[in-house]
Amino acid sequence: MKYKDPNCSVGERVEDLLARMTLEEKVAQCVQIYIPPEGREEILARIRKTGLGSRILSAVPLGGSVTQRTAGIADLNEVQRIAVEESRLGIPILSGMDVIHGQHTVFPIPLAMAAAFDPAALEQASAIAAAETASMGIHWTFAPMMDIARDPRWGRIIEGYGEDPYLGAQMAAAAVRGFQGELDEKGYARPGRVLACAKHYVGYGAAEGGRDYNTGEITDHTLRNIYLPPFKAAVQAGVGTVMSAFHDLNGEPASGSRYLLTDILKDEFGFEGFIVSDWASVGELVNHRVVAGERDAAALAFDAGLDMEMISECYTHHLAELVQAGEISTQRLDDAVRRVLAVKFRLGLFERPYADTDRQLEQLPLDEYRAASRRAAARGMVLLKNNGLLPLKPDARRVAVIGPYAHERRTMLGSWVNDILADEPGTLADALRAALPEAQILTAPSGLYDEMLMAAAEADVVVLALGESHARNGEYNCVASIELPAGQQALFDALAGLGKPLAVVVYTGRPVALTRIAPQADALLLAWHPGSLGAEATADVLLGAVNPGGKLPVSFPRGEGQIPVHYNHNSTGRFNPRYHDMPVTPLFPFGFGLSYTRFAIDGLEVQPQAVQPGGRVRVSVTVTNIGERDGEEVVQCYLQDCVSRLTRPVRELKGFERVALQAGESRRVSFELGAEELSYYGPGGRWVLEPGEFKVWVGSDSNASLEGSFRVV
Ligand code: NOJ
Repeated sequence: MKYKDPNCSVGERVEDLLARMTLEEKVAQCVQIYIPPEGREEILARIRKTGLGSRILSAVPLGGSVTQRTAGIADLNEVQRIAVEESRLGIPILSGMDVIHGQHTVFPIPLAMAAAFDPAALEQASAIAAAETASMGIHWTFAPMMDIARDPRWGRIIEGYGEDPYLGAQMAAAAVRGFQGELDEKGYARPGRVLACAKHYVGYGAAEGGRDYNTGEITDHTLRNIYLPPFKAAVQAGVGTVMSAFHDLNGEPASGSRYLLTDILKDEFGFEGFIVSDWASVGELVNHRVVAGERDAAALAFDAGLDMEMISECYTHHLAELVQAGEISTQRLDDAVRRVLAVKFRLGLFERPYADTDRQLEQLPLDEYRAASRRAAARGMVLLKNNGLLPLKPDARRVAVIGPYAHERRTMLGSWVNDILADEPGTLADALRAALPEAQILTAPSGLYDEMLMAAAEADVVVLALGESHARNGEYNCVASIELPAGQQALFDALAGLGKPLAVVVYTGRPVALTRIAPQADALLLAWHPGSLGAEATADVLLGAVNPGGKLPVSFPRGEGQIPVHYNHNSTGRFNPRYHDMPVTPLFPFGFGLSYTRFAIDGLEVQPQAVQPGGRVRVSVTVTNIGERDGEEVVQCYLQDCVSRLTRPVRELKGFERVALQAGESRRVSFELGAEELSYYGPGGRWVLEPGEFKVWVGSDSNASLEGSFRVV
């Protein structure tokens, strides 16, 4: 049979198969369900009869906030066998699961991966997650999440790459490459990789008030220039699927928006994969009250371009009837089915429908993966302050390691760790004990504040681990105040009162207000939720085995009253904005992060000074490690389009490079700015490059002051 012949092209196989399918079989390919143990037999009968597009392995809607075990390989293979051997056409089922920042080996949360400003490290982490996921018989992950987030109250800020569209786009593309890998010469995926899903399309991070699932209102100008670029980059990187978001954007739920799904994503960006809804978001169109019932929900979403429905089954119940009634065209149905089938063929699912028992988790080089996770964790940590206390001296005698997170394990992993196969991480106290064998480590595992104070009083130096639990961020975990959880500031104040050298480590998934801690702490290290080896990585940084080089992928506000505060705000018409009671600048700006050494950036050259549209400008600087230790600096290049038809950001990141330099070493670093960097979505949503003057700044954060300029003529 032609569609089963891997020597035919994907296109030929799709057409051959499509031509054989009944209406019911086509509809079934547009459906994704969970197979519960209770309803299993009924669903298996259904698979025999019509086949099934996909099964999701999450049993519950808030999959990231509960620990779940994925279906075992035996079960995955048995259900697959029924689809392949007992359904009429033998179309395999896609199994999907949220593998957000690691499956067995957990990497730092995505926001922390973004802080490393190192797309190659994210690509590697995603490839490792893919290998572990594929080894468990799972084909598809609902990642990467690439929602731009300017509001740290929104708990899902942990899952994305922060506030910046350029950084977000680089990271999104890297994650897609890592998960999916390169296709072979014939256009098929290689074993050991998984299908990626760009989510949540789009503007989901703009939820009003930082309240998850809430309405978003974004002008078309901001949508195109700020929120869409990561998705465009993911499409260009070949992402196989995109997930439509839960929320309503500008008065239209994303899962029912033809403008977003078809006009922009499929027609304008040329996305050829398929769109899956978020969990029950088709059925939830009824809750949004844009349709009166499930039949209309199915019609609205499907017609808008949403190809596969997750969970709610409006398609199962109504799509065939809608096609028969002529309310949905056969062409549209065929288009959706073609997309799903093409993804399945390209993934090699027809050739490798079953979990490969020769590539099980235990056969993978897990030690190597753990080393990569530890390295990534340390690289993403951001040193926010250091008056010389760090790195801790190896001859430190009595070190207090205290605070609510000094003995904590689970929080190291962060939210979205779905599988209880994830190894239990170590604690900071144990990691420092191992790293400082000569020292006396004073702890207070009881968690009692009075015992912590007693330990600190006896110590020469205090390491205080503050932060927030993984359970306090992630999906549907939003906060109104970005202060540290109750009690931590008081603990800090009491410790600061002892006058001991005090290093604070913050484990968090979101920016927290450190306004009253930063001035008093001797050192402040942002460790995020750093993953399986997070405790060891923290010790690596505290002791200087790794010189920190991470940078903030999101501004750290002084308090929630400043939200939204982001570096790439538009130019205003009058005086600079101000508050009477607080500066308008964040406590720590986007791109900021210190090192145990110091860097000088100078010698800016911009060549040529005038270019034609379509030409390229080269911006070069010399970066020198002027300190005593080897280290890494993220050199950042910001651009301003001096006069533009629509108001534009005061500056925008358009290039970065993480450079490793030995003490005393210098290197020339260059950024190329071409049409892609110099253009923007202008009037009418058109991609334009407007001639005129441009300014550039290069430096070590978004306040970079080394300035140059050029003209587009
Ligand atoms: C809802 C979340 O919004 C989404 O990110 C996730 O992929 C799905 N649930 C499936 O678990």
